[in-house]
Amino acid sequence: MSNLSLINKNRELLPGNAPLDCGLCPRLVAFRTENKEKYPDFFNGPVPAFGDFNAELLIIGLAPGLKGANRTGRPFTGDYAGDLLYPTLLKYNFASGQFQARIDDGLTLKNAIITNAVRCVPPQNKTTGAEESTCRPYLIEQIEKLTKIRIILALGLVAHNAVLSTFGEKKSAFKFGHNRMHTLSNKIKLIDSYHCSRYNTNTGRLTTEMFEDVFNQIKNYLGSEN
Ligand code: URA
Repeated sequence: MSNLSLINKNRELLPGNAPLDCGLCPRLVAFRTENKEKYPDFFNGPVPAFGDFNAELLIIGLAPGLKGANRTGRPFTGDYAGDLLYPTLLKYNFASGQFQARIDDGLTLKNAIITNAVRCVPPQNKTTGAEESTCRPYLIEQIEKLTKIRIILALGLVAHNAVLSTFGEKKSAFKFGHNRMHTLSNKIKLIDSYHCSRYNTNTGRLTTEMFEDVFNQIKNYLGSEN
C-alpha cells in the first residue's frame, strides 16, 4: 500500500468517508481500475473529507479531479480549483499554514471542512445523476456527524442539489444563484457559488472578487470571532 493510501486508510474510518475499495458505482470503479494501472502512484480512491469535524462551515465540491485530488488524496489539492479555494480560505482565516498543493504541505483548516458530492473521480470530470444519488448516503452520514455546521457552501449546482436532497428540501424552493444565501428548514444556511473550476475562472464567469464576496457573506454570518 502506498504512503498516500496509508495516510488515508485512517481518514477513511472517519464518518461519511467512503471505503477505499467502494464498489457502488460501476463506471467509477472501472475508471479507478484503469487509473490504478496508468498512474500507480496516485491515490486512486474515494477522496476523504479534509478539515475540522467541529467546523461551522462545510464546503462541498463536485468530485475529485483526475490529476488533482485523485492523485493527492485531498479534496481540491493539485486541482486547478484549489488554487483559488485554498488561498481564499487562508485569506479569510479558515486555514492556517501554507498551501503547496500537496497532502503533506501542513495546511490545516480552521472551523471549516471540505468534502465532495461524489467521492471518486469521474471520467471527463462529469458525474451522472445516478452516481450523485449513489454517493449521497456518504454525504448524509458525514453531515449528520458535523453537528456544529451552521453554513454550507455549495460549489456549483451539483453540490447545491446534493445539499437539498440530503435535507429533503424541494429544489424549486431554493434556486441556485451565485452568492445567494438560503435558509433551509433546519435553519442551516446554504450559500451558493459558481464552482471555482478552471473553466469558470478562465471564462470570467467567476472572478476572485466574486468568490471573495461569497466568503464575505460567510464571515458576516458566522461573526467576527471566526
Ligand atoms: N477537486 C475536488 O476535490 N473537487 C472539485 O469539485 C474539484 C476539484
